[in-house]
Amino acid sequence: MEKVDQAFIQYPQHRPNLTIIQPEHIPIIDLSPITNHTVSHPSPIEGLVKEIGNACKEWGFFQVINHGVSLTLRQNIEKASKLFFAQSLEEKRKVSRDESSPMGYYDTEHTKNIRDWKEVFDFLAKDPTFVPLTSDEHDNRLTQWTNPSPQYPPHFRDIIKEYVEEMEKLSFKLMELIALSLGLEAKRFEEFFIKDQTSFLRLNYYPPCPYPHLALGVGRHKDSGPLTILAQDEVGGLEVRPKADQDWIRVKPIPNAYIINLGDMIQVWSNDAYESVEHRVVVNSEKARFSIPFFLFPAHDTVVKPLEELINEQNPSKFRPYKWGKFLVHRLDSNFKKQNAENVQTYHY
Ligand code: SIN
Ligand code: FE2
Repeated sequence: MEKVDQAFIQYPQHRPNLTIIQPEHIPIIDLSPITNHTVSHPSPIEGLVKEIGNACKEWGFFQVINHGVSLTLRQNIEKASKLFFAQSLEEKRKVSRDESSPMGYYDTEHTKNIRDWKEVFDFLAKDPTFVPLTSDEHDNRLTQWTNPSPQYPPHFRDIIKEYVEEMEKLSFKLMELIALSLGLEAKRFEEFFIKDQTSFLRLNYYPPCPYPHLALGVGRHKDSGPLTILAQDEVGGLEVRPKADQDWIRVKPIPNAYIINLGDMIQVWSNDAYESVEHRVVVNSEKARFSIPFFLFPAHDTVVKPLEELINEQNPSKFRPYKWGKFLVHRLDSNFKKQNAENVQTYHY
């Protein structure tokens, strides 16, 4: 009988229901109208925009197929991630996130004060020239890789970079569809990402857990950017709760599909037309699970507030503006401060 580490134990009301046998389908959206589109064969996208709008409104979560991202690239990054995490703890810790780069390996994160059953590797999509690491250390900047940078598996860094570029392209296309679905210009969101975006990629490894009925891979949370593009493997375990009073829904893995979920920022930009959706990850006692989320984040100096076009006298702004950079730095700050402290709330990206 394995000893139960109390740090991982969820309160009874947040423990998973492991009797779910059949995972469910969230909406599946075929992106071929935009990915197979050529100048000589333009395809109408009104239907697609409508589908996206409905999925955003009703669910805030959907899967996309025919998304244009190469299957080989996905397989390469999944393989690289498995090889990376299969190394010894000592090797992995050589590329731990630290004060020179919060982008790296770590195995301790808490969501709402309970430790998550997972290991992580984070990678910043763009090498920033400006993002301060902590609120009081403005000389210390965020860097893309740890020092030393990971040397194993071979081509790890190249694969990650290539994959991030594809995620960026897909996320921009999705933001265009979302803009159209809100009645905005397709490129309405471009200004927030075109320069100095702070997006990043995360490799998640959820080892088998001896007490999956008590712990979670990631506790319930919402994402803070406008959207996240997630690759989950065939093991499954992602659960969503589109409305707070509903039961958790286990998302059925679809080979080579991507799961898209809306985060807090789209809720603010759209002035509540679309909502950020709560989700969590259930682990199991037999199989390791791997997932790869890409978090689309805007430029550091973005002031986040409802878009002018979406507010009027009948529908006044429901949110106070906030500075994304300040939020980000505060979060990085708290990550360092909790590094060795126990049971401290950390922020979810
Ligand atoms: C997360 O939401 O942080 C992870 C999702 C997943 O692993 O499926
Ligand atoms: Fe998340």
